[in-house]
Amino acid sequence: MKVTVVGAGAVGASCAEYIAMKNFASEVVVLDIKEGYAEGKAMDLMQTASLMGFDTKITGSTNDYSKTANSDVAVITSGIPRKPGMTREELIGINAGIVKTVATNLLEHSPNTTIIVVSNPMDTMTYLVHKATGLPKNKIIGMGGALDSARFKYRLAEALGAPISDVDGMVIGGHSDVGMVPLIGHATRNSVKVSEFLSEETMEWVVEETKVGGATLTKLLGTSAWYAPGAAVSSMVQAIACDQKKMFPCSTMLDGEYGLSDICIGVPVILGKDGIEQIVEIELSDAEKAKMQESAEGVKKTNGLLQV
Ligand code: 2OP
Repeated sequence: MKVTVVGAGAVGASCAEYIAMKNFASEVVVLDIKEGYAEGKAMDLMQTASLMGFDTKITGSTNDYSKTANSDVAVITSGIPRKPGMTREELIGINAGIVKTVATNLLEHSPNTTIIVVSNPMDTMTYLVHKATGLPKNKIIGMGGALDSARFKYRLAEALGAPISDVDGMVIGGHSDVGMVPLIGHATRNSVKVSEFLSEETMEWVVEETKVGGATLTKLLGTSAWYAPGAAVSSMVQAIACDQKKMFPCSTMLDGEYGLSDICIGVPVILGKDGIEQIVEIELSDAEKAKMQESAEGVKKTNGLLQV
């Protein structure tokens, strides 16, 4: 399994690090446009191999896509991250051009690759990759829901005073401060609905803190987060590499599912060797359906700013 990570910034480097540490990939290529930067990150990471116990070979490349040839999975993290006070949507002007160029370059050397899109605004960038490449829809996956769900579980565990391993929950909808739909009504502690343990106010707090999870970190860090995004990507790549048939909420092109079409937005999917192997349609309450609809309207509005 060969994996390419485009962008050697904090998110890209974390992706490469976690993928290597999990030891399921034979090779990870990190590519960046900044001269020598990806090579430096790759060398630094490789010098952790004997300490951390992995055999994955990590190499760096300054914008030479021939080094990425025949990648099974390619992760696009390129573009600028948001600064405190910015929304992900505000990044569209710069990031759209970058993501389109990166996707085209990747496919020139790996026509059968599966692309995972991380760059923001993520749902719109995933849609752009569809429109710009014509890759089959199972091979284009947006990373957002896996990250947002991890943040949801973090807040649920905090509110419950429970270990994270006790908690399960999922966030669907757009990967934006207003568009996320944390499915609090479906969240459980060891199969028991969290509403058995938490008050309405606390559940509302969990939902709101989850939605602004990325913004909270951007404010604290001065730029957007990288550990949890990197870990989320590594779990998705692992599910594909190891054909795990694991369920994640991911941004995927919908064709009537959840009553939505011609949009990439977060819904539960099964990830395996063929990328998105199934879109899972779960029963939503009327309130959840309305939130999903509203979220989709927001994503469509951002998509409308694209010049594809
Ligand atoms: C985040 O929410 C990078 O969008 C990503 O941290």
